[in-house]
Amino acid sequence: MKIIGIIASPRKEGNTAWIVNKILEGAKEQGAEVQSFNFSDLDIKPCQGCNGCKQSTRGCIINDDMQKLYDAIENADALVLGSPIYMGQMSAQAKIFTDRLYARFSPRFSPYFKCKNEAKQKLILAFNQGNPDSSLFQSYIDYTKHMFELLEFDVKEVPVVTGLRNGPAHKREDLHTALKDIGSSLALK
Ligand SMILES: Cc1cc2nc3c(=O)[nH]c(=O)nc-3n(C[C@H](O)[C@H](O)[C@H](O)COP(=O)(O)O)c2cc1C
Repeated sequence: MKIIGIIASPRKEGNTAWIVNKILEGAKEQGAEVQSFNFSDLDIKPCQGCNGCKQSTRGCIINDDMQKLYDAIENADALVLGSPIYMGQMSAQAKIFTDRLYARFSPRFSPYFKCKNEAKQKLILAFNQGNPDSSLFQSYIDYTKHMFELLEFDVKEVPVVTGLRNGPAHKREDLHTALKDIGSSLALK
């Protein structure tokens, strides 16, 4: 199984990176082939709404680093998308990534975009936030899960790590096993 992690945070070694990599570590221990992409290393422009992806046979016509992600997604069985909560929502980086998925929405409308498998790709949406109240953004989290289901992902889990204003995620002993378990079951599902 191939699993790719997308770290949609501007902080290369921040909480989001650590959380996504911990989930991937759990998956790797179960034999999955994993690869992570860090937004801070990539130059990805927002969707231009040109509809070029619907007219061309080669997909999105913007020639930037999202092309690497399209290739990786095409060959992946599962994705782990990590984002910090910014102002009650996903980060700008995660939104840019999501909008660029327009090029694959929907495979029915974009016959050029062939996923390796007929089966829906699995997705873990991993959020993290400073505030300790896990119910604070629940309606947004539920809505976002539904939106990715409309994009034809099989959303397996939506972990939300809270309370990070009190200290970095890597110092939280409880998270090490919990996040690895998410990756492990993703690889086995
Ligand atoms: C611009 C900005 C907006 C934020 N908005 C929220 C918020 O609405 N709610 C919250 O609980 N934390 C918020 N935070 C805190 C981040 O979600 C938290 O620090 C997160 O762990 C950062 O992830 P990173 O280490 O990958 O950058 C915000 C942080 C920034 C920089």
